Amino acid sequence: MESKIAFLENAWYVAALSTELGAEALFHRKILDVNVLIYRKQDGTPVALRDRCPHRFAPLHMGKRVGDDVVCQYHGLRFDCSGKCKHSPHGNGQIPKASDVRSFPLVERDGFLWIWPGDPALAEASSIPDCSEYSRSPKSAVAHVYMHNTCNYELLADNIMDLTHIDHLHGPLINTGGKLSPLIPNVTEVDGKVVIRWDWLAEPAMPLLGEHLAEPKAPAKMFFEVVWHAPAVMRLRVGAVQGSDDFVKDGVVLFDYHIMTPESAMSTHYFFASTRNYLTDDAAYNEGKMQGMLGAFTLEDKPMIEAQQAEMGTHDLWALKPVLLSSDAGAIRVRRVLKAMIEAEQGARLRAVS
Ligand code: FES
Ligand SMILES: [Fe+2]
Repeated sequence: MESKIAFLENAWYVAALSTELGAEALFHRKILDVNVLIYRKQDGTPVALRDRCPHRFAPLHMGKRVGDDVVCQYHGLRFDCSGKCKHSPHGNGQIPKASDVRSFPLVERDGFLWIWPGDPALAEASSIPDCSEYSRSPKSAVAHVYMHNTCNYELLADNIMDLTHIDHLHGPLINTGGKLSPLIPNVTEVDGKVVIRWDWLAEPAMPLLGEHLAEPKAPAKMFFEVVWHAPAVMRLRVGAVQGSDDFVKDGVVLFDYHIMTPESAMSTHYFFASTRNYLTDDAAYNEGKMQGMLGAFTLEDKPMIEAQQAEMGTHDLWALKPVLLSSDAGAIRVRRVLKAMIEAEQGARLRAVS
């Protein structure tokens, strides 16, 4: 049975990295099946409008900027940065009703541009996930990247919620040597967030972290913890420590975010950011580590998940009756919580119009 995919609309999604949006550019990206125009006002503040002129639906990103306004390149309607049509060069210059373009709440924070596709009245900037470590850490210890994937965003979220795949799909640098799959992860739900955590004794720690411990080849305590926020924002922490229980103070820890924003039902914008508590002033290490992570994502995760999607077609995961493993616990919880949120949102919308 094929499913029609509904997205959670009243939620913050990452629309772009701060670095993707130049000072003058009319940047555009499809988000939740809607084309969105994003640009910076002259004071640098980013704004988001629907990328569609209300006259004959020309994309506004093909137009021109005039100060903080955008002029449609087709017949010259001019819009301000809130989407209000303020000039028509036609006839007596009267602006027809319904000439305004929809605008979206947009917040730039910690290297990301967060967009709210749903009801603007419900958009609270205080509910944006806390990524402030990327603003607090030195630049030489922070990286943000963007990737595009031809698959549904929930398959990418499943991939992060079930990290046992690293021992099977990835190379030795981020491998646990088979330690992870036998573990039963601890899965909890707190305030609508789903947390999955694995703790184990590594013998030795995975090389990515182990080589920064005092004794790289000796046993070390390790953990992975993923905190999922709806709809697909995941904070991942990975740590290793020797002779202590305090990973952050005495060990080495990665502070990562994996953030998926649906482009459409079958394609996803994937944003990844990372910082750490070791070698924080080493820009060359930062670059090399990020290139390594990018290589793992694009050469290992992406081909597998896109092939998985191709095999599944547009079928819903549950309709295909997947075999379940112990490592699926976090991903299944996330899918259930998200489904309930989408159904609640759709129910509220139906009640509002009836
Ligand atoms: S399509 Fe934009 S003014 Fe005609
Ligand atoms: Fe992976």
